[in-house]
Amino acid sequence: MGSSSPLTRRNRAPPSSVSSVYLIFLCFFLYFLNFSNAQSSPVFACDVAANPSLAAYGFCNTVLKIEYRVADLVARLTLQEKIGFLVSKANGVTRLGIPTYEWWSEALHGVSYIGPGTHFSSQVPGATSFPQVILTAASFNVSLFQAIGKVVSTEARAMYNVGLAGLTYWSPNVNIFRDPRWGRGQETPGEDPLLASKYASGYVKGLQETDGGDSNRLKVAACCKHYTAYDVDNWKGVERYSFNAVVTQQDMDDTYQPPFKSCVVDGNVASVMCSYNQVNGKPTCADPDLLSGVIRGEWKLNGYIVSDCDSVDVLYKNQHYTKTPAEAAAISILAGLDLNCGSFLGQHTEEAVKSGLVNEAAIDKAISNNFLTLMRLGFFDGNPKNQIYGGLGPTDVCTSANQELAADAARQGIVLLKNTGCLPLSPKSIKTLAVIGPNANVTKTMIGNYEGTPCKYTTPLQGLAGTVSTTYLPGCSNVACAVADVAGATKLAATADVSVLVIGADQSIEAESRDRVDLHLPGQQQELVIQVAKAAKGPVLLVIMSGGGFDITFAKNDPKIAGILWVGYPGEAGGIAIADIIFGRYNPSKRLCFKPVFVIANLNKPVLVM
Ligand SMILES: *[C@@H]1O[C@H](CO)[C@@H](O)[C@H](O)[C@H]1NC(C)=O
Ligand SMILES: *[C@@H]1O[C@H](CO)[C@@H](O)[C@H](O)[C@H]1NC(C)=O
Repeated sequence: MGSSSPLTRRNRAPPSSVSSVYLIFLCFFLYFLNFSNAQSSPVFACDVAANPSLAAYGFCNTVLKIEYRVADLVARLTLQEKIGFLVSKANGVTRLGIPTYEWWSEALHGVSYIGPGTHFSSQVPGATSFPQVILTAASFNVSLFQAIGKVVSTEARAMYNVGLAGLTYWSPNVNIFRDPRWGRGQETPGEDPLLASKYASGYVKGLQETDGGDSNRLKVAACCKHYTAYDVDNWKGVERYSFNAVVTQQDMDDTYQPPFKSCVVDGNVASVMCSYNQVNGKPTCADPDLLSGVIRGEWKLNGYIVSDCDSVDVLYKNQHYTKTPAEAAAISILAGLDLNCGSFLGQHTEEAVKSGLVNEAAIDKAISNNFLTLMRLGFFDGNPKNQIYGGLGPTDVCTSANQELAADAARQGIVLLKNTGCLPLSPKSIKTLAVIGPNANVTKTMIGNYEGTPCKYTTPLQGLAGTVSTTYLPGCSNVACAVADVAGATKLAATADVSVLVIGADQSIEAESRDRVDLHLPGQQQELVIQVAKAAKGPVLLVIMSGGGFDITFAKNDPKIAGILWVGYPGEAGGIAIADIIFGRYNPSKRLCFKPVFVIANLNKPVLVM
């Protein structure tokens, strides 16, 4: 099969016009054949059943120790082949029965389509989409963190078995959310190093631990990122690609490092990703003290260190840290980097070796760490159908139990910030509930970033309408809320027994590459809330859907605003959880995972951040 057969046939066919039509059809046929194969079977090495000669190779022999198998494999490779295993789209080696492997998959709060290693299809159209991490963290419940990880890895394995997903996931993000304006704070477990550490090890164990109880085997491989001291993306032109975080040793040890340490030491994570930024003048991916010294030396990582995409290129091109690309490749590998998200090491490592900047032994060490991880995943053990998770498939994704856990995670995370006694609402006493606000009936907003396609959505409006009769008005055309429909919103609130305002942010306000410059509600949202509260017939409940905090001092002090909930980005089942809390079917917590009062340099007064 493959690309040679249509060419062979074309050479044989006489009339050229007929043959080119024939060729096109044949190409389509082969393309679809190939496509459907890729969609239905997992990628793995050592397919001894299909190719019995592979059984002779030590690296395919499952009886041998993993370290021996790794050494056996490395010894069989040429330098060019070795270099092909330093990059995220790893080259296969056909003569050894090793297919290409895409290392980059993501599963921050559910299997995601963000990395090129994972896709949805008609066979698996969606996966369970849990709340964005900042909300889950606010549950302060370690068993929940682990339970979510376990469901996500089961769905990931099920998708792998039908050729839709990888085995290596570059999640979780355990950076400390120290600056509330950071656009990626939503992805993190918040600003407290202890909670972030518990989250990190809990989620990693859920993803990685096999049911067989063998700590040297992995269900999927997790990755704690982005190491380290990273919490700026793009703030008034200050960009992560060139930012130098100046950090004291005490702040490193007390604030930024604990989640990574817990990830490696307590969670036994299979990977750590170094960040784009510099720490104290050195790019993290080229710092031997941070990589070889701390991660591998002190914490004893059992796995691989991967760069952000593509931070080796960035340290050369954006930061001008080395004079040549080959130097950038060499300095990173020598610092302890094993895998490069991107293609930079694929392009420049051979030159680095040939010019003596790095020796082949260092390359062997790096790829050994990568192979070790794949061995622990069973990638070199032949057909995964015959392995521990071989029985999982599409029916194990989006099960009702998994979706119920997504709803429960949102219930456990949602924070009650104010209640003058009106909550919970008694459904019997409500004839009409006005549901107002740009986030009142949103779907995708609820799952934040690093998302996948969810099983289904229940919006806040749908959740509330399941219990009482509702009227609805978005009040602004989007969260930017350039112009609020104050007249329409106040009219609705004036006739309703209770009004619920669902406001906040989405990825247009806070996101990767998008930091905020202040903590005010966007556009006219605050004005909308104030006017609705003034005009409302009954009590007003404020529901804030966001990753980062907002200054809501005005709402705290407004007597007409009887209750305030922060709901994070609550995941696919957000509307279920919000309704359960508002109607008293679940008793919410009052714990935030970031500081309620914050002082920052360009805001000269302390502000109450919900
Ligand atoms: C923590 O989460 C688990 C898993 O959802 C749940 O069974 C347990 O009740 C939760 N614990 C608390 C204290 O809420
Ligand atoms: C609410 O959103 C859902 C999902 O997008 C949509 O089907 C429904 O029509 C919306 N409801 C209203 C009243 O706009």
